Amino acid sequence: MKKYQRLAEQILEQIAMDIWKPGDRLPSLREQVRHSGMSFMTVGHAYQLLESRGAIVARPQSGYYVASRPRSNHHHGQQVTRNEAVDINTYIFDVLQASCDATVVPFGSAFPDPRLFPLQQLNRSLSTVSKTATAVSVIENLPPGNSALRHAIAQRYAQQGVPVSPDEIVITAGALEALNLSLQVATQPGDWVIVENPCFYGALQALERLGLKALAIATDPVTGIDLDALEQALEQNPVKACWLMTNSQNPLGVTLTVNKKQALMRLLERYQVTVIEDDVYSELYYGRERPLPLRAFDEQGITLHCSSYSKCLVAGFRIGWVVAGKYARRIQQLQLMSTLSTSSPMQLALVDFLATRRFDTHLRRLRRTLAERKQQVLLALSQHFPPEAKIHHSESGYFLWVELPKQIDTRRLYQQALRYNISIAPGRMFCTDDCWDHCFRLNASWSWGEREQQAIMTLARLIAQQMEPGSV
Ligand SMILES: Cc1ncc(COP(=O)(O)O)c(C=O)c1O
Repeated sequence: MKKYQRLAEQILEQIAMDIWKPGDRLPSLREQVRHSGMSFMTVGHAYQLLESRGAIVARPQSGYYVASRPRSNHHHGQQVTRNEAVDINTYIFDVLQASCDATVVPFGSAFPDPRLFPLQQLNRSLSTVSKTATAVSVIENLPPGNSALRHAIAQRYAQQGVPVSPDEIVITAGALEALNLSLQVATQPGDWVIVENPCFYGALQALERLGLKALAIATDPVTGIDLDALEQALEQNPVKACWLMTNSQNPLGVTLTVNKKQALMRLLERYQVTVIEDDVYSELYYGRERPLPLRAFDEQGITLHCSSYSKCLVAGFRIGWVVAGKYARRIQQLQLMSTLSTSSPMQLALVDFLATRRFDTHLRRLRRTLAERKQQVLLALSQHFPPEAKIHHSESGYFLWVELPKQIDTRRLYQQALRYNISIAPGRMFCTDDCWDHCFRLNASWSWGEREQQAIMTLARLIAQQMEPGSV
């Protein structure tokens, strides 16, 4: 990290620690030069950087002041969080177990409402397969997986202008197997891996399982991963892999702009880091066009692009894939050693579905419904949640990221809500420390009714109770 970047980071940290409050005048350039022993130019650069990030403002003839609202009140002071031993699995397991109970309002769930999936058509495809499959066809889909399915997936990339050969695709048991195999291919135990902060807990679980060390990079609900912080982490550590979501990030929902995806890719190429791209939500956009994957900007073949049908068509089939490029053979070898292969009947049923049913019609309906349901939840939150609650939402997917005042503990809120049969996904699930303990993720894909309305009102009441002075 350059000197001026280090100074800017120090000042940001001081602002986060309330040493400098919004509206406070920072030491003048001259004073800062005297305190820090740095040159006038270095200090000037640091102040410019802070200004460009919106953390401070210059007032002519008066000096530099801490901005009234820092760049994002999502910022928690630390741009890069190091964790040498990820230990999150037990907590996540407990939370996920609780969300599975059918009597619970599943705001904490990661899956979309399964009633949005075309179950009848999928069953018809399964039935067709069961009638037409031969003894050979049900055992012949060993890695890399069914050829027709790999072709169908490659054709979908081609529609987006992303050239992917069926030969570089490996079919997996959901995206989770694709991601785990990719991480395994790219790393050795003890290696440093970049993740976002907050990030999908599956990434943290995978790191824990493989004995990897995490470098968690500050990620903003509006702008996404902080590229300065990423560069700093890459410069200072021998990073082997980077696990990222650039479309509809879980849990924040943010999708990076094309420019940012390009800049991100160039940076990762410069440091020759293997990219593991988790792109499970890219079909759930509300805009006119499907956002491009980071893989589309990869000029050196360093990306393993992972996705699945779990979020957009059917979760229970457990069919995903990785566009593995030069790593395809190694992925297949690892798969042969672990799960052997993905279930053949499920692969065949998907081939039938994609060839004979209306996948795109289903997707259009799904996107429209998700957008409507999210609006409904946003309306309820605006009516019942305290005005201090900040609701981060995006034009895709079905997650809302709720940021509450810092004194609220969403681990406690989670326990309290569960007593009322309501689940939420507390911020603790998405990081390696307590930095998001005042946030939670809310699944807005469920059909709206009295039960959901009451659940939001109950959550609002529990939050209000925690906000009362003296509440413990
Ligand atoms: C961001 C993200 N990646 C991957 C997965 C796993 O996907 P699959 O069910 O296809 O294994 C999930 C599921 O919750 C997810 O949210």
